[in-house]
Amino acid sequence: LFTRSAIVFSTGMKKINIAVDGFSSCGKSTIAKGLAKELGYTYIDSGAMYRAVALFAYRNGWMTDTTIDEAALQKHISEIVISFETAPTGQQETYLNGENVEREIRSLEIGNGASRVSTLGFVRKELVRQQQAMGKKKGVVMDGRDIGTVVFPDAELKIFLTASPEVRARRRFEELQAKGTPVSYEETLANVIERDERDTTRSESPLRKAPDAIELDNSNVTITEQLQWAMDMFNKITTQHE
Ligand code: DC
Repeated sequence: LFTRSAIVFSTGMKKINIAVDGFSSCGKSTIAKGLAKELGYTYIDSGAMYRAVALFAYRNGWMTDTTIDEAALQKHISEIVISFETAPTGQQETYLNGENVEREIRSLEIGNGASRVSTLGFVRKELVRQQQAMGKKKGVVMDGRDIGTVVFPDAELKIFLTASPEVRARRRFEELQAKGTPVSYEETLANVIERDERDTTRSESPLRKAPDAIELDNSNVTITEQLQWAMDMFNKITTQHE
């Protein structure tokens, strides 16, 4: 009996990878960070990586609000090193070639730029390669658009979040306002709708729910309820895997 329970305990502790996908401003990072904290897993924000590529392109003059110099970006794509570090506040921050760019990448402009560079096959290929390397040892919660479909197709737990565009725009608007970013609700809603359209219709890895993902519409769900739901799913799946 003792041996048996010891085996159950050790397999029960085996780490898995968790994919959280969904539309922009759906609360993906809230649920992903919450799960990572509960489980002692590493949280990875794949959207921040696309944002860092957009910032890199803007800064080098290879991108404007209407154009992208694809040839130049492709030539220099391997020079982009993205990493994450935890600040003393416990907040995870994004680094581009050793520079903390966390604040800069959160603007609407860079969000839009990220959505545009994310349509390029060579950008996706490079970032997916880096993301897969980060998940090799398991114990990762990664959020994005293609995590369950492309980055970790074998993730043991896949969550797909949805919420109405209005609810998402309201959440993003309040977030931006709290940071002091001058933006209107109407602008934010237009940005959400524009990105939804581009993220779902692009030919390279469009946003899709993986067939084995569990869907949650969190329009009317609290953060606590949502995390509880996700933990229940985690417990159900890890018990099944034993
Ligand atoms: O999640 P976010 O808003 O930070 O993502 C910014 C953009 O990056 C988003 O509009 C689409 C793109 N993205 C992607 O194509 N694939 C991912 N895994 C994550 C983000």
